[in-house]
Amino acid sequence: MEYTILNGRMINRPSALVDIEDRGYQFGDGVYEVIRVYNGKMFAAKEHMERFVKSSDSIGIKLPYTLEHITNMLKDLIERNSLRLGIIYMQITRGTAPRNHAFPTHDVTPCLTAYTSEYPIPKTNLTAGVKTILTEDIRWLRCDIKSLNLLGNVLAKQKAEENDCYEAIQHRGEEVTEGSSSNVFIVKNGTVVTHESNHLILKGITKEVILRVCIENNIHAEERTFSIDELKEADEVFLSSTTSEVTPIVVIDGKNVGDGKPGPVTKKIQDLFRKEIEKQCGKL
Ligand code: PDD
Repeated sequence: MEYTILNGRMINRPSALVDIEDRGYQFGDGVYEVIRVYNGKMFAAKEHMERFVKSSDSIGIKLPYTLEHITNMLKDLIERNSLRLGIIYMQITRGTAPRNHAFPTHDVTPCLTAYTSEYPIPKTNLTAGVKTILTEDIRWLRCDIKSLNLLGNVLAKQKAEENDCYEAIQHRGEEVTEGSSSNVFIVKNGTVVTHESNHLILKGITKEVILRVCIENNIHAEERTFSIDELKEADEVFLSSTTSEVTPIVVIDGKNVGDGKPGPVTKKIQDLFRKEIEKQCGKL
């Protein structure tokens, strides 16, 4: 039996049914998190929980449970599903109400759901690197909210797939923002650069860990906007996310990044990131 969480209850996945008028289903009116699980333990759980509250607060959804309670439910879910290596997907919507764009006027209980999936470490991508394409960022102006509305991201990722690429790197005009489901970093003359965390990108948990380990290990890192030209002329480029960890980017729009192989700074950051995982979740 595979367990899922539906509104505080732990139930068998096929029984976890949500109404057609759930606002997440109709309007994408909700927010989510994806949390990595290594050795049966959540990585950066506190940071994910804090971002979950921040996202839900910013769209006026009040979490029906304390963060401590949600964290304990997720731990229970991992245990019941005997998950060792994978992810937890968790989302909250504004709940079910007769369809109307404005928020429901009566008290509607938000709908919290979570489930687990097995998800291996993407070893081939981590060692060989991945191909990417550039695409115009057509998303809204609150990309800092981890919203269920992902159409812009979905279309970008589909374009990548159709071009035999792993990820689409989005840009607004000349400015590079982020991947369709990842943050993007460049390395030039030993300096690591990534977009500042503002309304144009998601403040990735992996990004924050990377910036911290860079500081702790005397790798110079800057958060600032960078251009498509800087991206194309970078010595190294990599992306980061909960599922992709620190993945080297070796091709952009059909052209090699540097010599077309993962670079030394990226590899160093991969090692440091691995150490962070092992600190929290034990030896991999
Ligand atoms: N995506 N930017 C976007 C648009 C993302 O969707 C994600 C994560 C990130 C990286 O964030 P983090 O390091 O906290 O995972 C950046 C998740 C994994 C997803 O939607 O599946």
